[in-house]
Amino acid sequence: MTSHTVAQLLKAEYKAQEVEIKGWVRTFRANRFIALNDGSTLQNIQCVVDFENTEEALLKRITTGAAIHIKGDLVESQGSGQSVEIQVKSLEILGDSDPETYPIQPKKHSLEFLRENAHLRTRTNTFSAVMRLRSALAFAIHKFFNDNGFYYMHAPIITGSDAEGAGEMFRVSALDAKNPPLTENGTVDYSQDFFGKETNLTVSGQLEAETYAMSLGKVYTFGPTFRAENSNTSRHLAEFWMIEPEVAFMDLAGNMDLAESFLKYVLNYVLENHAEDLEFLEKRLLDEEKTKPQNERSDMSLTEKLKFVIDNNFMRVSYTEAIDILRNSKPNKKKQFKYLIEEWGADLQSEHERYLVEKHFKSPVILFDYPANIKAFYMRLNEDGKTVRAMDILFPGIGEMVGGSQREERLEVLMEKMKTLGIDEKELWWYLDLRKYGTAVHSGFGLGFERLVMFVTGMGNIRDVIPYPRTPQNAEF
Ligand code: 4AD
Ligand code: MG
Repeated sequence: MTSHTVAQLLKAEYKAQEVEIKGWVRTFRANRFIALNDGSTLQNIQCVVDFENTEEALLKRITTGAAIHIKGDLVESQGSGQSVEIQVKSLEILGDSDPETYPIQPKKHSLEFLRENAHLRTRTNTFSAVMRLRSALAFAIHKFFNDNGFYYMHAPIITGSDAEGAGEMFRVSALDAKNPPLTENGTVDYSQDFFGKETNLTVSGQLEAETYAMSLGKVYTFGPTFRAENSNTSRHLAEFWMIEPEVAFMDLAGNMDLAESFLKYVLNYVLENHAEDLEFLEKRLLDEEKTKPQNERSDMSLTEKLKFVIDNNFMRVSYTEAIDILRNSKPNKKKQFKYLIEEWGADLQSEHERYLVEKHFKSPVILFDYPANIKAFYMRLNEDGKTVRAMDILFPGIGEMVGGSQREERLEVLMEKMKTLGIDEKELWWYLDLRKYGTAVHSGFGLGFERLVMFVTGMGNIRDVIPYPRTPQNAEF
């Protein structure tokens, strides 16, 4: 007999058979009923102990958090609340738990408390559901791209270039921090460092993905990216996972179509395949909403929100139109925005993005054709000479979910742009080569994986959708 999982046993195919299971005790009631969880599903399996024929000392060790091994018969349950249960024939304690100090007591814990105990928080329903959905979303993403003829490309983690040009990078160095070699003019001499040059953790795999798109046609990256921006918000991490498709011969309109169908596919995938975890998180969110003032409550449940995105076209709005809407909006006129929108060219802050999606359009919005000078160097300049073929996808409750663009494929225009921004041609010689040898229109985007997980799970803080969040002043675990 091999060990089963709770997920298998609840499908009831094993009814009336002898089964074997290992898991952790959630609760032990009346010296008789063990609620056992093994992480395979949200649900516990009830294991009924014949306490009259079990040693007192053993019963005492069946405590919340203990790991146990059970053999018994799977039978139809007598009690309500579960269809089947295990009539225990043998019970072995694999690992004791101290009920006095075990942090995950069978009661409601705050998310802050669980963040401090992130190594145990997946023993709660909320976090096990979130992390199972995170895993499912990653699978759906690979499936979408694989089914659509994309190749998965592993972009390097250590890089010499700053793709986004924002200078928010973590240095990678093997030099002695206390006593680094210096150049003649007193700066650190990175030519003596491990790689013989200055290197950092990547902020994006895009530039390398472009090289692969320009040979394999359709590719995507899905890996960790790092940003040393000091944004202590509920939507920023210093280490986050990004999905970056890049496609040759595709323009900005094609890029929008791809992003929209991709997002709809993955949302639909979890709705169809992971209803149990979603329903649990939907109830959790409803309870949380009840604690908020009426005017801040969402008028849609979690699954309604997902269905809404799947069933409706994303609004496509140019930056210029968005500025007009924002300039004439109530919060702008009443000076309620922290950053008032006065003229064309202003960078949009999250308060503006959220106004557009949550108050004005009430649906996901694709903003496109941004002013060139608030976007990265690689974006395709429009004929007007002042906007670029950029797109950001904004989601209700999240803000920016996706950032992407059609890339500048004209060598002279790109070189000119790099010169104005002071980007060294020698550093990106290989990127410029793409524009010398068989250049073509191409586009791509980046999706912040954790922001997608937030949207799907309804969790309000990005720290609660990644196993071990890295944020300013925090790299515990
Ligand atoms: O808009 P961003 O900076 O775009 C890029 O990096 C491009 N190279 C993507 C491309 O065209 N291939 O980042 C893309 C997305 C954002 O829309 C956001 O969802 C997420 O990555 N993101 C973050 N998520 C969590 N924490 C942070 N600090 C993030 N910064 C960006
Ligand atoms: Mg962006």
